[in-house]
Amino acid sequence: MELQGKTALITGGAHRIGRALALALAQAGCNLILHYNRSADRAQVTAAEAEALGGRVLLRPADLSKLDDGEPLFTGLPEGFAPVQILVNSAAIFPKDTLSDLTIDGWSQTLRVNLRAPVLLTQAFYRTLPENLEGAVVNITDWRTERPYRTHFSYTISKGALDAFTRTAAIQLAPRVRVNGIALGAMLPPEGASDAYWRNVLATVPLNRAGGTVSAAETLLYLLRNDFVTGEIIRLTGGAHLNM
Ligand SMILES: NC(=O)c1ccc[n+]([C@@H]2O[C@H](COP(=O)([O-])OP(=O)(O)OC[C@H]3O[C@@H](n4cnc5c(N)ncnc54)[C@H](OP(=O)(O)O)[C@@H]3O)[C@@H](O)[C@H]2O)c1
Repeated sequence: MELQGKTALITGGAHRIGRALALALAQAGCNLILHYNRSADRAQVTAAEAEALGGRVLLRPADLSKLDDGEPLFTGLPEGFAPVQILVNSAAIFPKDTLSDLTIDGWSQTLRVNLRAPVLLTQAFYRTLPENLEGAVVNITDWRTERPYRTHFSYTISKGALDAFTRTAAIQLAPRVRVNGIALGAMLPPEGASDAYWRNVLATVPLNRAGGTVSAAETLLYLLRNDFVTGEIIRLTGGAHLNM
């Protein structure tokens, strides 16, 4: 897919990894629908950065845990925006829970944000995509679905289902829409994480460092540009999965 002039919707695009993905899309020539929830100030800063790179940006706030219909995020675009041809599902929550202490509310909230929203958004994306256009979806997932966390039960289940959704959607939406995923490893420390926690995480990475945001952005552009890749989930782990 040629990215210049395309419109891309990215969820959780205000800061951290979502911001890096948004800026990479802007740098590649896309106009952005930049979704955020609570980070309005950071979304505005990211939007200004993306516009400085030449893209146009429409900010769209939404609490994805309350989403029942994704279509309003894709419709009512200002003049100059082409229909949305790229969807990046990056927003997620990472609560600490286990099977034994899990609550119904916590379980529902994680599944709503990390799984239900990407499904509803992909459905709305497909329904609103004009029939003569191709599309591409990239889901941001986590390699730890293959080696489950002891400490993040609902997150791991939600991302594992997101992996299954990625492959299932790739089959069901072919040939017009490609659906891929990026299974991230240790890219950035979770906000508020201690230095000791992050040192322990990095000790399991053969490349001996965090991934940062650049490799995630490069992988996103690769998956969007390569028209023969669908149903693929690329691990970005610095080799951590080799320890399995
Ligand atoms: N950081 C890593 O090393 C790492 C590793 C593996 C996988 N990942 C995955 O990579 C993606 C980005 O990670 P990150 O560390 O940059 O995430 P993060 O800092 O935890 O940010 C989470 C994002 O999700 C959005 N979000 C959370 N709850 C929401 C809700 N109810 N409605 C709408 N949006 C909501 C937030 O938006 P607001 O701030 O606007 O509320 C924020 O942009 C996630 O899918 C994560 O699972 C990250």
